[in-house]
Amino acid sequence: MAFNGYLNLFNLGVLTIIIIIIMAEAVTPTTLVDQTSLNRSSFPTGFIFGTASSSYQYEGAANEGGRGQSIWDNYTHKYPERILDRSNGDVAVDQYHRYKDDVAIMKYMNTDAYRFSISWSRILPKGKVSAGINREGIKYYNNLINELLDNGLLPFVTLFHWDLPQALQDEYEGFLSPNIINDFRDYAEVCFKEFGDRVKHWITLNEPHSYSMGTEPYMASHNQLLAHAAAVKIYRTNYQSEQVSEKGSIGITLNCHWFLPFSNDTLDHQAAQRALDFMFGWFMQPMTTGEYPLSMVSFVGNRLPKFTQEQSKMLTGSFDFIGINYYTSNYAANIPHSNNDTSKPTYFKDTHVNLTTERNGIPIGPQAASPWLFVYPRGILELLLYTKTKYNNPVIYITENGMDEFNVPTLSLEEALMDTYRIDYFYRHLYYISSAIKHGVKVQGYFAWSLLDNFEWIAGYTMRFGINFVDYKDNLKRHHKLSAHWFKNFLKKH
Ligand SMILES: *[C@@H]1O[C@H](CO)[C@@H](O)[C@H](O)[C@H]1NC(C)=O
Ligand SMILES: *[C@@H]1O[C@H](CO)[C@@H](O)[C@H](O)[C@H]1NC(C)=O
Ligand SMILES: *[C@@H]1O[C@H](CO)[C@@H](O)[C@H](O)[C@H]1NC(C)=O
Ligand SMILES: *[C@@H]1O[C@H](CO)[C@@H](O)[C@H](O)[C@H]1NC(C)=O
Ligand SMILES: *[C@@H]1O[C@H](CO)[C@@H](O)[C@H](O)[C@H]1NC(C)=O
Repeated sequence: MAFNGYLNLFNLGVLTIIIIIIMAEAVTPTTLVDQTSLNRSSFPTGFIFGTASSSYQYEGAANEGGRGQSIWDNYTHKYPERILDRSNGDVAVDQYHRYKDDVAIMKYMNTDAYRFSISWSRILPKGKVSAGINREGIKYYNNLINELLDNGLLPFVTLFHWDLPQALQDEYEGFLSPNIINDFRDYAEVCFKEFGDRVKHWITLNEPHSYSMGTEPYMASHNQLLAHAAAVKIYRTNYQSEQVSEKGSIGITLNCHWFLPFSNDTLDHQAAQRALDFMFGWFMQPMTTGEYPLSMVSFVGNRLPKFTQEQSKMLTGSFDFIGINYYTSNYAANIPHSNNDTSKPTYFKDTHVNLTTERNGIPIGPQAASPWLFVYPRGILELLLYTKTKYNNPVIYITENGMDEFNVPTLSLEEALMDTYRIDYFYRHLYYISSAIKHGVKVQGYFAWSLLDNFEWIAGYTMRFGINFVDYKDNLKRHHKLSAHWFKNFLKKH
């Protein structure tokens, strides 16, 4: 992957030039009038700021504390050549052993909350309650939750962030089988029971869209939706109001790009709408009306599973809030139907949308390290306004937002910590979020991805999303990047 110019410039460490560039760019959009005045006080009282993470990307201790194997342990060991640097999450950034240090970093940054996920196979090594609960796993999360609360940080807990117990993959192919619904519900119930006295914000699934892309998408998403609804139902029935002092809330995290029509052609406008339906409406629509979006029904036909009446009813309204992960935007162009295509249908062909990141040779925004990540801050405002209008103004948390740079082992530590472009990224996105709130969107919190550099799935450790640097060459030592200091200042309370 090419080391692109935008980041290269910053990594050279020409700080003055960078600041001039940022300031020059910053005043261009007329809406960004008084840039320097944005800080915590620009958001409503009680707005929650935090950082986000996930178990497989952070914890390590893969074979410790009675944890069972997950599909990501299995995949990274079976196919090391499919991971860019042949790495895995066996050790990751070792949060399992260093959670106290990491909570101290959050406290340094003045954040209010931490979003982390529970490793299902650390709680249920074989995936099912009937096969035994691992008390040592429960103890680890109790320790982490208590450490957070002792330091004034709220835990936001994701129940499933892709690390499915391998045992359930082996037994029935995980989310491709409806058997997953009750097993997920039972796992969720263990978590509600054990942690729900202190955890008041639950996220059932992280990015079901991304997860389903690695498998047969329509069935995987269908069963993820039903598993989500089953977990919400049990929470509402048995836990939500009974766990006294403060009523908890439960939601789901969806990822969505914003889509700009490639041209003013009506067909491209429809393509942009369809792209939203296939990425976001796929989940939002069933949770709002109990049905898949009409565009999906008509473009996918009978390959799209159907909900029974009872399932539709259970899905409708099955959230207290929606978590949104926003990183980037795309152009959407229509792909006409052809009557001579006899190849096997795929999700991407079904959409009839050509997603691109440039128009007339001009990229939609500067590119980060990840090949898919082009910076387009205004997209978060558009997506929030769209969600408000289209889906009855739900409560929203931005559960991820961030950008990455390449891991360049030859950089000095000083250079590697100077992530001015990340500050610029957060600033612009936070500006548009504050603007969305002024337009009546009910955004109640923001979680930056990510607290630390970490295992970026098939990119391994080649890309760094962290606000804090992890020194992979020196015992995984943490160092604040410039953006950590910036957050500390941004979030300072009087
Ligand atoms: C935050 O911004 C406001 C103006 O919007 C300013 O009055 C205030 O001093 C700033 N707070 C801090 C802690 O910098
Ligand atoms: C992956 O899982 C299969 C099925 O449980 C098992 O036979 C195999 O040994 C695992 N591979 C690795 C590398 O852990
Ligand atoms: C679409 O139309 C608007 C208004 O006429 C124009 O400003 C804009 O440049 C057009 N966009 C494209 C991609 O042609
Ligand atoms: C299908 O038809 C289009 C034009 O209508 C043609 O360009 C294309 O090569 C054809 N594809 C196949 C697989 O025959
Ligand atoms: C998608 O758009 C790009 C750029 O406009 C073009 O090169 C490519 O052929 C298009 N692909 C399809 C499948 O239409």
